[in-house]
Amino acid sequence: MAVGRRKVTVIGAGNVGATAAQRIAEARLADVCLIDVVEGLPQGKALDLAEAAPLHYHDFAVRGTNDYADTTGSDVIVVTAGLARQPGMSRDDLLLKNSGIVRSVVGKAVERSPEAVVVLVTNPLDAMVHVALDVTGFPRERVIGMAGVLDSARFRTFIAEELGVSATDVSAFVLGGHGDSMVPLPRFSTVAGIPLPELLSPERIEALVQRTRNGGAEVVALLKSGSAFYAPASSVLHMVDSILNDRKRVLPCAVLLKGEYGIDGLVVGVPVVLGAGGMERIIEIKLTAEERAELKASADSVRGLVDTLKASV
Ligand code: NAI
Ligand code: 2OP
Repeated sequence: MAVGRRKVTVIGAGNVGATAAQRIAEARLADVCLIDVVEGLPQGKALDLAEAAPLHYHDFAVRGTNDYADTTGSDVIVVTAGLARQPGMSRDDLLLKNSGIVRSVVGKAVERSPEAVVVLVTNPLDAMVHVALDVTGFPRERVIGMAGVLDSARFRTFIAEELGVSATDVSAFVLGGHGDSMVPLPRFSTVAGIPLPELLSPERIEALVQRTRNGGAEVVALLKSGSAFYAPASSVLHMVDSILNDRKRVLPCAVLLKGEYGIDGLVVGVPVVLGAGGMERIIEIKLTAEERAELKASADSVRGLVDTLKASV
């Protein structure tokens, strides 16, 4: 990573992108370049964010642009460009449209920042990581999808609400793809170190697991237009912080598996150590036969998307 000021490019100045830009600058992590295909949108939002800087006592630059030349030399590239899921629309409906967008924007960005770590947000998330791996030719360590941090934050929120405890004392684990087949793992989810099954009945745990699986759709149904962005942007912040500051946090991220968890050649959410080089290590935990079957089903749904993508070219 270059010495001096650090730079994060956020592609897509919509709800998630602009909020992520705000979080990153206001957390004093890096200068931010916000880029979008719509003229004026990234410039207007970046100007507004820059004008908030003195009120937040920081001096990190937020610059809006439509020109990829301005993204040159980024340490991290966050990809949020694409269509958001609308009510009644599945994540998979977005597949073909968003893969074209991701292929184009990631290609242009990595040309100017060949050493960057790429963090994908655009849905369907796991398939978009495959697209980015293909277009960049980067090693899997530098092409990582954000989903598990969000899904586990949702699970933590629901557990905390159910038990009437602080969400900061809840730790939750979610494996698998970002979709209806995600695999929340109650036995690795704890409240101040106490495993969840010690605190809640199997029926209540199952209800919280289902709510987590439905977490994105629950927000979409309420908003009526567009999808969640505050918690997704906060999830991006945690990943970017761990990369830029080499924190080596253990976070669930979507990465290409090469035999880990018995899965080869597919992007699936697993616990990883995130540091300056991106994904430094995958942490493998021993799963029960049932958990392994759920993870396999989740991976199979990612395989279905990848096959659809391959068939479309
Ligand atoms: P949004 O519609 O508010 O913003 C998307 C932005 O992308 C728009 O400003 C649009 O102009 C821009 N865009 C479209 N084509 C572009 C291109 N070729 N180049 C540059 N910019 C382009 O959507 P929102 O809410 O920000 O969501 C963004 C994406 O993130 C969606 O695909 C959504 O489903 C996904 N998402 C994923 C999450 C996850 O956990 N992985 C969580 C939340 C959202
Ligand atoms: C979410 O989970 C839409 O994937 C997005 O909120």
